[in-house]
Amino acid sequence: MAKMEVKTSLLDDMIGVGDMVLLEPLNEDSFINNLKKRFDHNEVYTYIGSVVISINPYRSLPIYTPEKVEEYRNRNFYELSPHIFALSDEAYRSLRDQDKDQCILITGESGAGKTEASKLVMSYVAAVCGKGAEVNQVKEQLLQSNPVLEAFGNAKTVRNDNSSRFGKYMDIEFDFKGDPLGGVISNYLLEKSRVVKQPRGERNFHIFYQILSGASEEFLCKLKLEKDFSRYNYLGLDSATVNGVDDASNFRTVRNAMQIVGFMDHETQSVFEVVAAVLKLGNIEFKPESRANGLDESKIKDKNELKEICELTGIDQSVLERAFSFRTVEAKQEKVSTTLNVAQAYYARDALAKNLYSRLFSWLVTRINESIKAQTKVRKKVMGVLDIYGFEIFEDNSFEQFIINYCNEKLQQIFIELTLKEEQEEYIREGIEWTHIEYFNNAIICDLIENNQTGILAMLDEECLRPGTVTDDTFLEKLNQVCATHQHFESRMSKCSRFLNDTSLPHSCFRIQHYAGKVMYQVEGFVDKNNDLLYRDLSQAMWKANHSLIKALFPEGNPAKINLKRPPTAGSQFKASVATLMKNLQTKNPNYIRCIKPNDKKAAHIFNEALVCHQIRYLGLLENVRVRRAGYAFRQPYEACLERYKMLCKQTWPHWRGPARAGVEVLFNELGIPEEEFSFGRSKIFIRNPRTLFKLEDLRKQRLEDLATLIGKIYRGWKCRTRFLLMKKCQIVIASWYRRYSQQKKYQKIKSSAITVQSYIRGWKARKLLRELKHLKRCNEAATVIAAYWHGTQARRELRRLKDEARNKHAVAVIWAFWLGYKVRREYRKFFRANAGRKIYEFTLQRLMQKYFLEMKNKMPSLSPIDKNWPARPYLFLDSTHKELKRIFHLWRCKKYRDQFTDQQKLIYEEKLEASELFKDKKALYPASVGQPFQGAYLEISENPKYKKLKDAVDEKIIIAEVVNKINRANGKAASRIFLLTKNNVLLADQKSGTIKSEVPLGDVTKVSMSSQNDGFFAVHLKEGSEAASKGDFLLSSDHVIEMATKLYRTTLSQTKQKLNIEISDEFLVQFKQDKVCVKFIQGSQKNGNIPTCKRKNNRLLEVAIP
Ligand SMILES: Nc1ncnc2c1ncn2[C@@H]1O[C@H](COP(=O)(O)OP(=O)(O)OP(=O)(O)O)[C@@H](O)[C@H]1O
Ligand SMILES: [Mg+2]
Repeated sequence: MAKMEVKTSLLDDMIGVGDMVLLEPLNEDSFINNLKKRFDHNEVYTYIGSVVISINPYRSLPIYTPEKVEEYRNRNFYELSPHIFALSDEAYRSLRDQDKDQCILITGESGAGKTEASKLVMSYVAAVCGKGAEVNQVKEQLLQSNPVLEAFGNAKTVRNDNSSRFGKYMDIEFDFKGDPLGGVISNYLLEKSRVVKQPRGERNFHIFYQILSGASEEFLCKLKLEKDFSRYNYLGLDSATVNGVDDASNFRTVRNAMQIVGFMDHETQSVFEVVAAVLKLGNIEFKPESRANGLDESKIKDKNELKEICELTGIDQSVLERAFSFRTVEAKQEKVSTTLNVAQAYYARDALAKNLYSRLFSWLVTRINESIKAQTKVRKKVMGVLDIYGFEIFEDNSFEQFIINYCNEKLQQIFIELTLKEEQEEYIREGIEWTHIEYFNNAIICDLIENNQTGILAMLDEECLRPGTVTDDTFLEKLNQVCATHQHFESRMSKCSRFLNDTSLPHSCFRIQHYAGKVMYQVEGFVDKNNDLLYRDLSQAMWKANHSLIKALFPEGNPAKINLKRPPTAGSQFKASVATLMKNLQTKNPNYIRCIKPNDKKAAHIFNEALVCHQIRYLGLLENVRVRRAGYAFRQPYEACLERYKMLCKQTWPHWRGPARAGVEVLFNELGIPEEEFSFGRSKIFIRNPRTLFKLEDLRKQRLEDLATLIGKIYRGWKCRTRFLLMKKCQIVIASWYRRYSQQKKYQKIKSSAITVQSYIRGWKARKLLRELKHLKRCNEAATVIAAYWHGTQARRELRRLKDEARNKHAVAVIWAFWLGYKVRREYRKFFRANAGRKIYEFTLQRLMQKYFLEMKNKMPSLSPIDKNWPARPYLFLDSTHKELKRIFHLWRCKKYRDQFTDQQKLIYEEKLEASELFKDKKALYPASVGQPFQGAYLEISENPKYKKLKDAVDEKIIIAEVVNKINRANGKAASRIFLLTKNNVLLADQKSGTIKSEVPLGDVTKVSMSSQNDGFFAVHLKEGSEAASKGDFLLSSDHVIEMATKLYRTTLSQTKQKLNIEISDEFLVQFKQDKVCVKFIQGSQKNGNIPTCKRKNNRLLEVAIP
């Protein structure tokens, strides 16, 4: 990081002496040398205590940058090198922090840099005060009011290229935070004579030149102006352009500023129209014309200019023309019109131009005030900045210079009042030991000018109001009479004048010894300028203008408001406004900037010691230093001082009970401030050195920080303690809840443990009891078992004994039997031996057969003819018997089954049997037909009214009535037909209408052909040559082909006693009319799903595809 040079005192790196109070030795030479030394080192500011001396550098110095603003911001006045920013900061801070209204008084002669200084103060304050969109707008408007007023109110003079030709006092208003709220500008007497005439080497007001150089052609044309300066009589030609000033760009700045300040477009336009009108007025020229009554009359030479002015301003040309030619005087309710001679006409023209311009200027100020005025009604703090025209001495000094210099006298007076006189008086009032310091008090000059009875202004007014002939000379005479003895008044004509022989003082002049030097005033024009008369005809003509601004500028022109009272004179008006200004300034805390002009050449780097010395003298700067040195830098009432610093001492903090003075004494003693550094006045404490004050301020600042820390500490302590207490309270509540909870838990644990122990004990007891009971039970059981065993043993023993006994008995019986048998067999052996074998065999065989049949009786299978069960054969020798028996049994149960059938069923079964014989193992469709009962009449011809016609046509019994598909011989496509089989005929009828299509007697049916496959196609072949055969054989298809063929076979057999030939083949011929067509059945095509399809392949082949 770059090493930054931090200044903590104006003593650091000081060039010469920054504060003249510290100058040693103090005399005029050292004073000037010090200023020169600093000036040569670009240090243009020097302090006298809190007063800033500013020497105009006449070149731009890099000391007004934003960085500089930051450097001076919030720093103590004596901390950094002297600067106008330090003074601005001090003033702003004491306004903001101590609630003291401030005023910045900037004095110095013309060209010393007052206006620049005032702008610097404003820009500094604008930079450091609050920010924000609204505040910035206020700031911008306040700052931008400067270029507007400068354009209209400043002009190049021989002393200053941008000389303020009006006095300006601006109050900037702030709220309690120090944010700007708005402002009010007061203007003082514009030097309007400049509008019509400028001294040599000077210019008219800037705006005229700016408009001509900066406005566009179009705009100029609108204003009826031409670019050429020389076209206008009112513009002095010898210095129409100023070095380093760009009028054109300044014009743009002014227009922009007007826009920012809030001028509406039409207002700006009106303003420039008035400016143009003023400029053009100067071009109106008059010529004399003698009238019949011998009086001279003036006539306008060229009416073109007048016409254009009237067009611009909306004034009736004749009205204005008349106003330039006549003057109406009202006396005792009588109107007298007199003609104006050429001189009077020029006077009237110039008066109108001056009035128009000066009123426009005042209107501008009012209009700006309207824009920048504070919008709130809250209490405001005010900082006033006074930038007034500086003291000036020209070759020809007139009424304006007199007024300007009077104003400067007054300012000097207020400076003396507040810094020198007031200060010294205060020491005496407060009883502070004091050696009086001599200084020149200019009150006497002020008195010479403004005294109500004998003052020059009063004399002038008296002359102006006096009846009779009044001229400037009569005024001078009067002055000579009244002021002759005044020390500061010099005139050649005064009685016993000291200046009778002073040739440097012409007879038509008087001289005043101003505080800043002697100024000789030409008395010519004083009366006129003071009267400031504008002929009523002119003001009435202006009021009649069709131009709202001009109309508003001349309210007295309204005939309805004619006021015969004389308006106050310019001098008295100015005196009154200066008095108000002084009063206003006295209520505020003054801050001085005393501007010094280093040379008369407006040049940089030149330090004209004589010139500076002169200014120092009349500004009383040396006296100022002396008073500062002898006196005290700072004073404050005891109460305020105690209130401000009481925190620096234990006894006075926080409350001091005794008198404030005693408190301050205690405080200062406690702080160890050396006695020579302060004095106790009657009501105030006086601090000699600013450093002591700064020390106090620093201590206070430190202490405030400590106190803030303390407050913070205590607050934090309190906050922590409160938090701690709260936490403690919470902890107790939580702990009590927790203890309760843990006790509950413990209790529950103990309880459950007790229950567990209890249950264990009970269990243990129960188990013990159980064990005992079990033991008892086992004992009982054991006893029972033992008893049972015992009884068992006993019983078995008994059983064994009985068994043994029985066996013995049986053995005895067997042995006996055997013995008997043996005896018998031995006895009868000789009788049986010859035929016993055959008989035993037959008997055994008989017994076995008997047994076989008895067993078969029980094992018989069911009576269902399809039951295949048959018991197994028991003996080999019965094999054939067993088979025969099975056969017989089956036949028998079949018979039994058949015996249950009705005749109808019998017929059906016969048909089924017939079908079986005809088709079983021959046609693949057959097995599927076995389960289907043969219904014959599928169509209920007799019931269905649709077939009534058909029924009527067939009077025989119908064996089959079913819908079949008749295959078209041409293309193999199927058509639905009703197939009827009666006892004698086969019929085919239309399915829809029931009309019989073909009828074939059964005798004519020779053969039925069909495939061996799973399809319903069949062909009915007809006898060749028969009537029915003429159309050819029928190729039909039906789902019931098996039933149909069977029934046809049976019916044919019963009717013709001949067996119908049924051919089952996959390829057979069918007679279609004349042709024989081969019908061929092909297995395997899946084209139409599961439905067989028939297709005519060629003339001889019809192919049936079977899936
Ligand atoms: N601080 C400065 N830095 C640079 N130039 C300055 C400074 N102050 C003044 N000047 C120059 O001096 C000229 C005259 O200054 P300024 O107009 O402020 O004088 P003044 O005291 O207002 O005179 P007057 O009484 O005629 O209005 C300015 O136009 C500018 O060129
Ligand atoms: Mg100025």
